[in-house]
Amino acid sequence: MNAPSRQVLKWIGNKHRVAEAITSHFPTDFRRYYEPFVGSGAVLGTLAPRDAVASDVLAPLVQIWQRVQADPQAVYAAYEERFTAFTTEDRKTVYRAILDRYNATGDPDDLLFVARTCYGGVIRFDKQGTMNTPCGIHRALPLAKFADALAQWQPRLAGTRFVVGDFEAQIDDAGPGDLVYCDPPYQDCGKNLYGAQTFSLQRLFGAVERARGRGVRVALSLDGSKRSGDRICNVAIPEGLFAQDMEVKLGRSMLRRFQMAGQSLEAEHVADRLLTTW
Ligand SMILES: C[S@@+](CC[C@H](N)C(=O)[O-])C[C@H]1O[C@@H](n2cnc3c(N)ncnc32)[C@H](O)[C@@H]1O
Repeated sequence: MNAPSRQVLKWIGNKHRVAEAITSHFPTDFRRYYEPFVGSGAVLGTLAPRDAVASDVLAPLVQIWQRVQADPQAVYAAYEERFTAFTTEDRKTVYRAILDRYNATGDPDDLLFVARTCYGGVIRFDKQGTMNTPCGIHRALPLAKFADALAQWQPRLAGTRFVVGDFEAQIDDAGPGDLVYCDPPYQDCGKNLYGAQTFSLQRLFGAVERARGRGVRVALSLDGSKRSGDRICNVAIPEGLFAQDMEVKLGRSMLRRFQMAGQSLEAEHVADRLLTTW
């Protein structure tokens, strides 16, 4: 359970810095692993499970993972083409063209590049589902490092089937002995992040309760900074649903870093919260 040293995908709210801490709490005797809010797959890539189903509601994101599995050379070639234009021509113009094409076609190679180069790494959609984050200020990940990320990730994904879909159907699919890890979008962090309009914490708690009843073990990450007693984002956590409630150390919250652009965040260290049904 060692985390890969590089990420293929840059994703807001990712768990890369705490993935090893999270997986250290997982049982080792589970059957199939489910990750229904996979995003950039920090926990999946660290666990590298033999048999897993990983899903997300955002189709182009899931297609990125399917392409990394099936044809990493093609993913590299697409990145190289965009990287070359971005670093040799006017970066803002190139970024805008790639973003516009992503919004028009949903091309997964475009999403990967935009996620790596957008401002603050914030994948933000407006009400029409259009991604509208401006170009960021940082350099794009150099080609050799991107190639290294792909090489590290491909074998870790070998046992995983990637599926597009809402979390509820995936959790309902898990059976006795299976392990489910949920890292949902945060309700009060703006509904336009990830285009997460269909998410509801209440609906998630219902699915967790049904899964627990079938003998599925479920772990749930919640943003520690939103913690207030046994309520999260003003939603009460059903009593008795989880057996353990742990704090996992986290560095700085990416979303806060974006909102407070440029300010010192020494006081902003927060702990991530991990709830488990076992
Ligand atoms: C906090 S992020 C997960 C981050 C991930 N753990 C990582 O390390 O990158 C939440 C993810 O949930 C997805 N999502 C939002 N609503 C969803 C839904 N109803 N069903 C499934 N996935 C959803 C978003 O697209 C986003 O990728």
